[in-house]
Amino acid sequence: LCIFALIVPNYDMVRLLFFFLAVIACCQGCPEKCVCSTHTVKCQNQDLDEIPHSLPNNTKALFVTGNNISRINLYLSGNELEFVDAMAFDKLPSLVRLDLSNNTILDLSQKAFPVDNKVQVLNLSRCFHNRSLADLSFLQQANLQQLTVLDLSNNDLVFLPDNVFSSLPSLENLSLQNSSIISLQNGTLKVPPLHDLDLRDNSLRQLPISTMSEFSQKPGLHIRLSGNPWRCDCFIEDFLSWLKNSSQITDVQNLTCVEPEELRCLPLIHIQNSQLKCSGDMEGVLETSYVFLGLVLALIGVIFLLVLYLNRKGIKRWMYNIRDACRDHMEGYHYRYEINSDPRLANLSINSDV
Ligand SMILES: *[C@@H]1O[C@H](CO)[C@@H](O)[C@H](O)[C@H]1NC(C)=O
Ligand SMILES: *[C@@H]1O[C@H](CO)[C@@H](O)[C@H](O)[C@H]1NC(C)=O
Ligand SMILES: *[C@@H]1O[C@H](CO)[C@@H](O)[C@H](O)[C@H]1NC(C)=O
Ligand SMILES: *[C@@H]1O[C@H](CO)[C@@H](O)[C@H](O)[C@H]1NC(C)=O
Ligand SMILES: *[C@@H]1O[C@H](CO)[C@@H](O)[C@H](O)[C@H]1NC(C)=O
Ligand SMILES: *[C@@H]1O[C@H](CO)[C@@H](O)[C@H](O)[C@H]1NC(C)=O
Ligand SMILES: *[C@@H]1O[C@H](CO)[C@@H](O)[C@H](O)[C@H]1NC(C)=O
Ligand SMILES: *[C@@H]1O[C@H](CO)[C@@H](O)[C@H](O)[C@H]1NC(C)=O
Ligand SMILES: *[C@@H]1O[C@H](CO)[C@@H](O)[C@H](O)[C@H]1NC(C)=O
Ligand SMILES: *[C@@H]1O[C@H](CO)[C@@H](O)[C@H](O)[C@H]1NC(C)=O
Repeated sequence: LCIFALIVPNYDMVRLLFFFLAVIACCQGCPEKCVCSTHTVKCQNQDLDEIPHSLPNNTKALFVTGNNISRINLYLSGNELEFVDAMAFDKLPSLVRLDLSNNTILDLSQKAFPVDNKVQVLNLSRCFHNRSLADLSFLQQANLQQLTVLDLSNNDLVFLPDNVFSSLPSLENLSLQNSSIISLQNGTLKVPPLHDLDLRDNSLRQLPISTMSEFSQKPGLHIRLSGNPWRCDCFIEDFLSWLKNSSQITDVQNLTCVEPEELRCLPLIHIQNSQLKCSGDMEGVLETSYVFLGLVLALIGVIFLLVLYLNRKGIKRWMYNIRDACRDHMEGYHYRYEINSDPRLANLSINSDV
């Protein structure tokens, strides 16, 4: 409104009126003990114990140096913020709660926080510009020793880098809701003393045994897993028996199968092992290989018959030849036998042999 007043050009009266209104608007918005100018609010050396609440809505710079503020909550949600530079929060050692949600951050410097920061709650929900390429390495480097609550929901993370949470020794509440996560690598959640883990609305189809045993090793951990596209085939047996026995899944009633078609929307805890089929199991494989073998044999047979058919004249000739040869041979024997067996011709035969 202040800027607006300066822009309105034409009639002096109107201009004056607007300027007057603007001053009222500005100064009504200006917090107690502070001095406000166009985009700047200064509340220095006033012994404040918290950041003034109602700031004028065009504030771009806020100076609160020289006060006694021990806890700072900073809400920067929905600002189209793109860069959080190194040292950005260096002058705010009392920063406890930082909300960077709903921004378009391209780069969040790992040196943004002072070394001895006291950040306990960090909201990074829907905060990265390209949510699938979010660089989470600052979580490992930024020395967030006291971070207790981390909200990473509504980002398109898909995979979590190895050891991404291993430098967060106080992390208790972690939300990864609606983040397209397809699997959790072994060891991802090992280090932090997690208490609440929200994995709802991701792309998990099953949980590997290593993840289940990791969860089981943290008996105080509560997990939410609904809204994932569970695939109810024989590979999910271990997960099912773990689900039915574990009390860690707080929304276990709401876990439903998405595949296969005949089990769609059925709650996982009502599925029996006998209902779990595998399209790729050994029976199927054997069946298809038998069919294949049969087809190959049939083909060989057909080719053999075809070859015979094409050579039928040759074969016939060959068979006749063999038959003739046999007959000649047999007749020769027969003839000789007859000669040999006739006593009258015996001498003749001997003579002729000679
Ligand atoms: C700032 O606040 C005034 C009234 O307090 C309102 O009329 C104006 O629309 C607000 N501007 C923005 C950008 O929110
Ligand atoms: C600063 O605030 C604390 C309580 O938060 C208080 O004990 C201390 O006396 C204050 N210091 C000054 C200089 O006012
Ligand atoms: C995010 O911020 C934009 C303005 O930058 C706002 O219009 C939108 O409602 C916000 N969304 C949420 C979920 O807070
Ligand atoms: C983070 O901010 C979103 C709004 O942008 C809000 O819905 C959510 O509750 C916040 N998370 C935490 C842990 O405060
Ligand atoms: C994010 O990055 C990927 C790969 O570089 C690109 O394909 C995609 O369009 C980007 N999305 C946005 C919203 O910028
Ligand atoms: C889930 O996250 C995507 C961004 O990754 C966002 O566009 C969508 O609105 C979110 N869904 C809900 C229900 O918040
Ligand atoms: C942690 O999450 C649980 C469940 O959402 C909630 O009840 C609890 O208040 C959270 N704790 C903190 C410190 O935010
Ligand atoms: C997971 O990691 C632990 C040690 O961190 C190891 O003992 C275990 O064999 C691993 N499991 C798998 C499936 O890699
Ligand atoms: C069921 O869970 C208990 C602990 O809650 C464990 O001692 C037991 O071995 C589990 N049984 C099976 C069959 O996994
Ligand atoms: C299960 O889903 C229903 C409906 O979406 C919801 O009202 C209920 O709170 C969910 N239960 C749990 C334990 O999350």
